Parts: sequence; C-alpha cells; structure tokens
Amino acid sequence: MLSQSLACFPRLDLLSGPTALHKLERLSQWVGRDIYVKRDDTTPLALGGNKLRKLEYLAADALAQGADTLLTAGAIQSNHVRQTAALAAQLGLGCVALLENPIGTQDSSYLSNGNRLLLELFGTQVERVDNLDNADAQLAAVATRLSNEGKRPYVVPIGGSNALGALGYVRAGLELAEQMTATGLNFAAVILASGSAGTHSGLALGLSESQGQVPVIGVTVSRPESTQRPKVETLAKHTADLLGVPLPSDFSVTLWDEYYGPRYGEPNAGTVSAVRLLASREGLLLDPVYTGKAMAGLLDGIERQRLGQGPVIFLHTGGAPALFAYPNAWNGLT
Ligand SMILES: Cc1ncc(COP(=O)(O)O)c(C=O)c1O
Repeated sequence: MLSQSLACFPRLDLLSGPTALHKLERLSQWVGRDIYVKRDDTTPLALGGNKLRKLEYLAADALAQGADTLLTAGAIQSNHVRQTAALAAQLGLGCVALLENPIGTQDSSYLSNGNRLLLELFGTQVERVDNLDNADAQLAAVATRLSNEGKRPYVVPIGGSNALGALGYVRAGLELAEQMTATGLNFAAVILASGSAGTHSGLALGLSESQGQVPVIGVTVSRPESTQRPKVETLAKHTADLLGVPLPSDFSVTLWDEYYGPRYGEPNAGTVSAVRLLASREGLLLDPVYTGKAMAGLLDGIERQRLGQGPVIFLHTGGAPALFAYPNAWNGLT
C-alpha cells in the first residue's frame, strides 16, 4: 500500500541502496541488552546523515519546478543545512542559508568549525539572523527577494520537515521493516532523535504497515513532549494525506523528553557520556546535539526498564561533524 503510494512521487536516487542494520556487539554486552543500529549516518553525501532521504523528494520537486537555488535555514551547526548545501553543489544549484545562533555562544569553534566550516567549502551564501522564530515567513521573505533579483529559489523548510520531505522516512520505515523481518527477531522499540519531526513522523508511518506493534520512541532534542507531540502527530497526518492513505487507527506517538536539557544545541552530562561510550566501546561517532541525547535516552530507558522485552534499534541519524564545534564538551563533563 504505502510503497505503491510512494512510487507516485518523483525522487532522486541519491542513496543507492538501503543503509545497514547491524548489532552493536560490545555495547550490547556491556549493557546486557541487544542493541542494533540503523546506519543512516552513512548516507553517501558530505559526511552523511538523515537529511539526504528527505532531500531525495524535496530536490526532485525543486528540479521539477525549475529552481536554480535551494534556500533553507537552521542553526549555525545545522546538519540539515550542511547536507542541503552539499546537494545543491552536487546538482549545480546555488544555496542560500539563514543561520541562527541558538545558544548565543561566541565560541570560535561553534562559529566557524564543524558543519559551518563545510558550508564555506560548498560555496553556500550564508545570511546570519537573530533567530528563526518565524522561519517559514523569514524564508518566504528571502525567497521573494531572491526572485526579485532574478533567481528561482526553492524553499526547503527547517529540517526538510514538511510532508514531502517526510516521505523519505516513510521509505526508510519500509526499508527498516524489511530488515527487521529478515532478522526473525521481535524488537522492543526503535529509538531516534525527534527534532523538526520529519524523521520521527515518516519512520513511524513507514513502520506502521508491518511493524506497527513496535513503538517508535522519539527522544526530544529541542522541546518538551507537550509541544513536540502535536508537531509529530500533525506531520504524520499531513504525510498520510499526501500519500492518500489513512493513518492507522492505532497509530500513536511516543516521546521521551527527559534528555534534551539544558536546551537545544547544548549537550548535558548524559549526552557526553553517551558520545564517549559509543566512541570508546564501538568506534561509532554520535553527535552532541541529536544522537548523543537520543542514545542517552536509550541507555537510561534500558536501565530504568522503560522498554518491553527484546532487542532495541537505534536510528543513527548522523551529525558527527558537529563534534568539532564543541571541543570543550569532551573535557570536564563525564
Ligand atoms: C543528526 C540529526 N539527527 C536527528 C535530527 C532530527 O531529525 P528531524 O529534524 O527530522 O526530527 C537531525 C535534524 O537536523 C539531525 O541533524
């Protein structure tokens, strides 16, 4: 059903195949529970990450509309902006990015290393803004200005998270469901970072068709459950509408919001421990803003017995370039 509906939407084939699902052997032993990882950090563009799946649909739409510029927005260290800018370069398009400093830091690594450094290499036209409190309106205003200058901009929303972008994660959900079935295991949960919500909404919808009994737990990275829940639910509904399918009657969104403090873009002690643990036990790089917090939630959830029986899947959504923007986080805090 879902795959037939998905096939109606133009998509650039940028991933060229499924990302791996594999067990984290040493971490599983250490924790006493089997933990698998779905490697969306290895998508094949400019150091990887989850946004390429959304961009397969968004960039296809941009090209169909004759755009010559991708216009988007995010934090100075946004992985989404990095992947959008890299794709623009690959497709021969321009890229304009509105960037905010969500933690108000003047740390030179945050301002110029990590993802921000890569934007220079991609030739991105960066415009700094005080905040992105009205991101859609701000993007629309810049799009109008660029059009008046003779450009043909295509707006990619923050995080690539509209219904069209979320199709990339519906597709990922179908891909993961097949991989889960092939293992013959009954998984307790899939856990991921839930931010602008396209990854969470799309994945949950994609998995609902054949793995609907498995909770898809979003660990919030930027806001409490009370405001994240309507974001995820509304986007899931819009995505289902776009596909012309009903949301399953038992579709439910699970969120854990204890792990994102003190705020978006600032790691806490649990984040740092999780990043260190995965690096030292598995040679696997998480990030200080998204996957470090999601993994901290996974580990705490296992310890506090918040999960049912069975192995757990962690969706690794990427982000490691931001490690270099937070060099001081890895000292002191453990
Ligand atoms: C590394 C990483 N993980 C997770 C997310 C969250 O994905 P979403 O914004 O679709 O909720 C992002 C978003 O930018 C990200 O960069």
